[in-house]
Amino acid sequence: MLGWGLTRLRELPWRETRDPWAVLVSEVMLQQTQVARVVPKWLAFMHDFPDPAVCASAPLGDVLRLWHGLGYPRRARNLHEAAKVVAAAGAFPADLDGLLALPGVGAYTARAVLAFAFESDAAVVDTNIARVLARVHGLTMTARQAQSAADAWLPVGDSWAWNQCLMELGATVCRPANPGCAECPLADRCAWRGSGTDPAPGTAGVSRPQARFEGSERQARGRLMAALTGGAVRADDAPGVMAHRAAGRLAESLCAEGLVVLDGEWLRLP
Ligand code: ADE
Repeated sequence: MLGWGLTRLRELPWRETRDPWAVLVSEVMLQQTQVARVVPKWLAFMHDFPDPAVCASAPLGDVLRLWHGLGYPRRARNLHEAAKVVAAAGAFPADLDGLLALPGVGAYTARAVLAFAFESDAAVVDTNIARVLARVHGLTMTARQAQSAADAWLPVGDSWAWNQCLMELGATVCRPANPGCAECPLADRCAWRGSGTDPAPGTAGVSRPQARFEGSERQARGRLMAALTGGAVRADDAPGVMAHRAAGRLAESLCAEGLVVLDGEWLRLP
């Protein structure tokens, strides 16, 4: 696996760093957004917010403006909250419990920071790796099963390379559709090998096809966030901007989540 992967790892900017803040930012961005979209945003983010203290002292609105285009802005708010926690503590947590205590950091992100920043022995289960695990074992897995299968595979001392290579295999060969079993280094030990029912869908952590965007609440929320990126919007104008029958409720929920502020008659970024 390592022999196959190390020659094939794509050059991605977050693979050049071991800075935990930079790694955390990349992993949060990569959770729901494709690599090609993340690269320029990650570079811009690291330029504007090079460390947690700089991010923590900026208004959330600045982070949201930079985030625009990545979607799922709650991730930006969580990152901003995490920056405040790290800045107040004065040091980045370097163990699982400390990382899990950061806002928005779950089992996946915490282990990704352990493996990719601290190079400590942690097995990461993202959507790509969960798919590989399920197929090789021929089993639709629960989160617990997938994590213990990943733990059992992890070669001690090679956590950084191992997790990156497995991710790369999932992203480029063991694809959701049209898997490249003929070029897969794990084919001779894979239970599934591309024939019969694919055990990956339904396995915990394997992403499902995204719901329709056109006409969705996510699209309407995105329209308001996009407008606010350019400046305040009169609250009365929000329904027109959002073009959704539930505009009022959606605007209220953005306020409740702290992503939008109602300032008199105006909506603006915090
Ligand atoms: N997706 C999640 N983490 C990643 C990483 N470190 N490299 C490439 N894709 C990823």
